[in-house]
Amino acid sequence: PQTKGWWSVQLFQYHGFWIHIFGIRGSMLIHDHFKPRSTDIVVATSPKCGTTWLRALVFSIINRASFDFSDHPLRKANPQDLVPFFESIIHKDGSTSFVDGIPSPRLLSTHLPYSLFPTRMTDDTSACRFVYICRDPKDVFVSKWHFANKLRPKELPPLSLEETFDLFCKGVSHYGPFWDHVLGYWKASVESPKKVLFLKYEEVKKEPLGCVRKVAEFLGVPFTPEEENKEIVEQIVKLCSFESMSNQVVNKLDKRYQQRPISNSDFFRKGEVGDWVNHLSPQMAEKLDQITEEKLQDTGFNFH
Ligand code: A3P
Repeated sequence: PQTKGWWSVQLFQYHGFWIHIFGIRGSMLIHDHFKPRSTDIVVATSPKCGTTWLRALVFSIINRASFDFSDHPLRKANPQDLVPFFESIIHKDGSTSFVDGIPSPRLLSTHLPYSLFPTRMTDDTSACRFVYICRDPKDVFVSKWHFANKLRPKELPPLSLEETFDLFCKGVSHYGPFWDHVLGYWKASVESPKKVLFLKYEEVKKEPLGCVRKVAEFLGVPFTPEEENKEIVEQIVKLCSFESMSNQVVNKLDKRYQQRPISNSDFFRKGEVGDWVNHLSPQMAEKLDQITEEKLQDTGFNFH
């Protein structure tokens, strides 16, 4: 079924998830035609969990030997232009020809749930790797609500916090239910720790240096003592920080310059942990916490 209203416009239920038509078509094309390489790296997220940040971090970890930090591509391009949006680009192309042409190691970004990838990408014998980041659902909802309001056509009224909250709780949001998305990657990271690295936004905020080292090790490119002496990890963390990225001129550009539906600046709002307290009532927070507790029961995972 198709849902109505701007929050969920053109979302269809596909294999248990609410996905936009481009995601469904992209997923089908990946399923039927995509040829994975052992060096592929997929940055995976549920929307508003830190996609932009993780794209920037993984891009700068992988390419750290190729660029000077003072003249880095992240100072001239938004991370979405450096790390292609997998299902969207394949949908636009109608084929895998663009991604087939990317030299190895390919770095791709996705919002697709883990269960929608073909087994030739997810089984243990394929070496392609996924780096996933999740975030407290209360902050995710608030971030999504702001984002959807910003993108809404001017002729539509603002989205009500209460109505969109109810939909989010019912699992109706882009690539939702949110919890099922997280759990798919969580389970895969437990079963195949060499294939899926699972991160939390809050953890990366708290321990960015440790997390960057963890990602580099997972990707098979740990920092050498020489790199540590040159403080490369510190430079990556600084370059990719919210303060640095949100202040790059390229990330302040308006969509009219780029003829896109979304401006680069739309990906940067507050970049904080716990902003939900400024938007959700105690009852709403309690309700989300309760749903989260029920969904995560007996899974071995929690958001703390
Ligand atoms: P807020 O709306 O809470 O500020 P995504 O990139 O998945 O679309 O997620 C967007 C969220 O990540 C927004 O959260 C945005 O401000 C935040 N964000 C963007 N870049 C970031 C960065 N470099 N560090 C931390 N958070 C960042």
